[in-house]
Amino acid sequence: MKLISDLLKFHHDLDLYFQRHQFALLHFRFGEALEHLLVYERELRRHMRDEEDILMPIYAERAEIQRGGGIKLFLDEHEKMLAHIDLFKEQTIKLVDEESPEEGLILLLDRESFYKRLSSHHDHREHDYFFPALDKITTEAEKVSILDRIQARPSAYENSV
Ligand SMILES: [Fe+2]
Ligand SMILES: [Fe+2]
Repeated sequence: MKLISDLLKFHHDLDLYFQRHQFALLHFRFGEALEHLLVYERELRRHMRDEEDILMPIYAERAEIQRGGGIKLFLDEHEKMLAHIDLFKEQTIKLVDEESPEEGLILLLDRESFYKRLSSHHDHREHDYFFPALDKITTEAEKVSILDRIQARPSAYENSV
């Protein structure tokens, strides 16, 4: 049986893309770190769009929304996360031309560590409230059609690296 919560695997994929960015930073390969970050951003935006355009309307209409599972909360977090990514892009670009990048790199890693907590908090909440509710309120046929729509899209990562 297919489940909407099968889509949670994207959270894991996203973590891996972000880790590639951080590994490149650790090796002072800032151009490469930027490329990985751009792929991460593109995949993240796509995942958020799937959630916002395809899943949230169903959730809003049919789910019994619990405390901690409110739509506004999810949307605010998406916005906050994307604002962080914008900042990371700026900072990574700066590092490319930096003669002594150590200080800027530490600052960036500190901020990214905060971001990772934010993002993991968000993922956990979706895991606990959003996806289980969607599994509950959709029929088998709906599940199949939703998953087909979302999974049919190619991975940005494969296309760009
Ligand atoms: Fe999300
Ligand atoms: Fe998500």
